[in-house]
Amino acid sequence: MDPVLTSISNNFPTKVKLFEVGARDGLQNESTLISAEDKIALIEQLVDAGLPIVECGSFVSPKWVPQMATSKDVFANIKRQPGITYSALTPNMKGFEQALDAGADEVAIFTGASESFCQKNINCSINESIERFLPIMAAAKTHNIKVRGYVSCVVGCPYEGFIEPEVVAKVAKKLLDIGCYEVSLGDTIGVGTVKSVRDMLLAVNRHVPMNKIAVHFHDTYGQALANIYGALSMGVHIIDTAVAGLGGCPYADGASGNVATEDVVYMLNGLGIEHGINLDKLAQAGWFISDLLQKKPTSKVSNALRSKQ
Ligand code: HMG
Ligand code: MG
Repeated sequence: MDPVLTSISNNFPTKVKLFEVGARDGLQNESTLISAEDKIALIEQLVDAGLPIVECGSFVSPKWVPQMATSKDVFANIKRQPGITYSALTPNMKGFEQALDAGADEVAIFTGASESFCQKNINCSINESIERFLPIMAAAKTHNIKVRGYVSCVVGCPYEGFIEPEVVAKVAKKLLDIGCYEVSLGDTIGVGTVKSVRDMLLAVNRHVPMNKIAVHFHDTYGQALANIYGALSMGVHIIDTAVAGLGGCPYADGASGNVATEDVVYMLNGLGIEHGINLDKLAQAGWFISDLLQKKPTSKVSNALRSKQ
């Protein structure tokens, strides 16, 4: 452990796991349709760059999220690498069955800490969402598939404003109680600051051990890296990121891209925290998808590296 980090906090991890969500959370909000072949190329480049776990798509209604309609083809045709987890987002039993058929290694279920957001996103209340997840949990157990849980709007909601940390803690604990192996806490609209994120994490950590908590920041207000640094100082060691800073949630107005994987890797390099990612290869993957989308990455690190080419 770096002595400077130790002097700030004894909780900084020496190693973190990055959970890449660019091909799902990143692309779901893009209006330019990306073909299954190009998504596959992106995913293979991300894996080649060293990402151990990649969310490759979602099995949701194609009427709701058209960009994800090709998820079946994506899963069918990825050249899988040993030891890599290819994950899928699934809102209900129908989505789970599709993910299973497609050969997803693990699935993620998702709900919110805000009733209004939950309704807009998956058309049901938080309690109803949990009810819908129960058969998924049972089937996943039978098929030996790990299930991750997401809680959205953990510090703020586009419809309800501030969200009480205790509510987040209750929903996160519920997801673990029904069998999720870890819970990802999503600042869906990127309004969190170091203090509000800390308060939320402290509340969740009263019920959920730190090693089962992942953080998922969108960078709307430019606070994502600071929030991740704060979370690391509390011992969080699983971070969701999206290559090139792609992303957003179609049902959360104002939700901008996820924190960029490149920016997080660069920060971790500076802190001497192990992550296993090759930044040059990662940046190449980000340029590949950004060129297809005909936009510049929102990642400052990515743009700085490209300007040196
Ligand atoms: P619904 O309309 O309440 O569902 O939608 P339903 O059961 O009444 O079915 C309606 C139609 O959808 C039927 O088809 C079903 O077959 C079909 P129809 O008879 O009209 O032709 N359907 C499905 N089709 C494909 N896959 C399925 C599926 N389920 C039903 N799994 C539903 C409920 C959840 C399906 C809908 O609300 C939906 O798809 N929502 C999309 C939600 C979404 O993808 N949001 C973005 C991801 S979450 C996120 O980004 C946040 C996160 O990143 C963390 C953070 O940042 O906070 C995770
Ligand atoms: Mg998200």
